[in-house]
Amino acid sequence: MSHPGAPVITLCGIARSYPMGDTTVHALRGVDLDIGRGEYVAIMGPSGSGKSTLMNLIGCLDSPDAGEYVLNGRRVSQMRDRDLAAVRNREIGFVFQTFNLLQRATALHNVELPLVYAGVGRSERRERAEQALERVGLGGRMQHRPGELSGGQRQRVAIARALVNQPSILLADEPTGNLDSTTAAEILATFDDLHAAGHTIVLVTHDEGVARRARRIIRIRDGMIEADSANP
Ligand SMILES: Nc1ncnc2c1ncn2[C@@H]1O[C@H](COP(=O)(O)OP(=O)(O)O)[C@@H](O)[C@H]1O
Ligand SMILES: [Mg+2]
Repeated sequence: MSHPGAPVITLCGIARSYPMGDTTVHALRGVDLDIGRGEYVAIMGPSGSGKSTLMNLIGCLDSPDAGEYVLNGRRVSQMRDRDLAAVRNREIGFVFQTFNLLQRATALHNVELPLVYAGVGRSERRERAEQALERVGLGGRMQHRPGELSGGQRQRVAIARALVNQPSILLADEPTGNLDSTTAAEILATFDDLHAAGHTIVLVTHDEGVARRARRIIRIRDGMIEADSANP
């Protein structure tokens, strides 16, 4: 496997299980993975195979029971909560299947929110949020609320929000799962542009057609990587 850049994500022996009553669900059972800067990677696998668990770990929304995670050269397990929150906010942009936007806030305000948490001042916040929305083609929709936007436009607001802190990594968990095929194509074109601009993208999908846009496809099954190959 050739990588275009130095690893930004290194997972070594990652395991995560969930206690469920008398039993334990082993969602991830020893995952080793390197993702280099600027890669575009698709993660595929059956429902319940551990894809979202893996994404949440990569995104520092969850921590493993075992194994080591090195993000941009830093061992995540050794970071304190405050540092971890800062890393998450700065390094990682997350896009979800269900958009997760604030319904009562405008597109602009939704995109500004991560900057509020990052302590960025009002005028710079406004400027950067506007730029992020322009970048995803929504310069003309900044004052619209989610209910006044199409599904594809909502997802583009979510992408702008994920990008506004200029994270090194964009994580997307089934970002086109709730979109019709035309709208999904728009979102995928946006990811192609971001990849061309140098972003590292990790995307979970059920759809082989979506996965073919990526340069590398990782297949997981029962909490383990079963295949990892360059996309011809
Ligand atoms: N919060 C949780 N509590 C208990 N079990 C969970 C939780 N999240 C995921 N699981 C279980 O872990 C396994 C992997 O889930 P997940 O990572 O969501 O899979 P995928 O995204 O591939 O569908 C599944 O068996 C699922 O039921
Ligand atoms: Mg999932």
